[in-house]
Amino acid sequence: MRHILHVVGARPNFVKAAPVLRALNQRGIRQTLVHTGQHYDRNMSDVFFSQLEIPEADVNLGVGSGSHAAQTAEIMQRFEPVVLTYKPDIVLVYGDVNSTVAAALVCAKISVPVAHVEAGLRSFDRTMPEEINRMVTDRLSDLLFTPSEDGDANLRNEGVAPEKIHRVGNVMIDSLLRLLPAAKDCPRNGFPDRMALVTLHRPSNVDNAGNLQRILDSLRQASERIDIVFPVHPRTRQRIADLGIATPKLHLHDPLPYIEFLSLQARATVVITDSGGIQEETTYLGVPCLTLRKNTERPITVSLGTNVLIGEDPSRIGAELSNILDGKMKQGTVPPLWDGSAAQRIADILHTT
Ligand code: UD1
Repeated sequence: MRHILHVVGARPNFVKAAPVLRALNQRGIRQTLVHTGQHYDRNMSDVFFSQLEIPEADVNLGVGSGSHAAQTAEIMQRFEPVVLTYKPDIVLVYGDVNSTVAAALVCAKISVPVAHVEAGLRSFDRTMPEEINRMVTDRLSDLLFTPSEDGDANLRNEGVAPEKIHRVGNVMIDSLLRLLPAAKDCPRNGFPDRMALVTLHRPSNVDNAGNLQRILDSLRQASERIDIVFPVHPRTRQRIADLGIATPKLHLHDPLPYIEFLSLQARATVVITDSGGIQEETTYLGVPCLTLRKNTERPITVSLGTNVLIGEDPSRIGAELSNILDGKMKQGTVPPLWDGSAAQRIADILHTT
């Protein structure tokens, strides 16, 4: 490939693209970086660019927030002329956010090849917006880079030609390994020594006031046994404020930069989350993870890693927390190819394509 154009838009994309940009740069390949502007707050975007040493985007589409249809359509409209101007040989898209599917659709319609990093993951739950994004993006992609064996199997079952599928491992772990030393040196910044770390932003958990109230009640109870640190996604912030849950041991924060968040994950007693990437990071770190979802598109974190799916009924938090505090936590291993070299494998393939 002579010229590769990357599309990023939301926080998890930045973590995935950083090592790929670096690996391709080492090979002297021409690269263009497009930021859709899906995430735009300083602590959801700029801080990630600086900590992960991502070069400034060549183009920022500045789309901002909106309904799924509005956001996806806006990205498509603004991205098409960029592709036509830059004329890349291939476009790399990452993960499963609206920016990913929007860019893939644009490219497919003007016959620009697409490569999908983190292909093949499936929750088999079409009520998740990300599942739609994953399915459509994979369908449209010419090269599919998977993080684990289940991704290959899902794609083969959907009829994707085997020669398009490349199991490269997990690029998120490349970023984690690069910045773990910095995270371990990170000052405590007043965070408690022993704590449970919480993140929540899935619509199924936070958009329904009743569900969110039940989760917060369980966290409030858990905070009687362990300090809880909860960096709150913008989507969740207003809803929590409306419900009012202050307790002395439940600490709410703005979203944290990558290194600070990784430092908390690495030393947490347990992580309670509904994020996809955090299920993977805790598996790598060997930290117990309770996932507040009915399903996961990352089943390897359950079969091999430390992840326990506790469903959407938060009453299980208490019992699982007791096991962990008693030292009876699930033991895990690191999945194959989650070794810090996934981006190098992607670069090798793109270099010779
Ligand atoms: C998106 C992804 C989700 C990913 C998450 C990571 C989709 C469908 N979802 O969800 O898969 O796990 O990012 O964070 O793409 N907002 C801000 N500042 C920002 C960005 C968003 O305040 O910088 C607020 C806006 O009110 C917005 C809401 O957050 O309406 C949701 O943002 P959006 O990008 O639509 O989805 P996320 O929930 O962030």
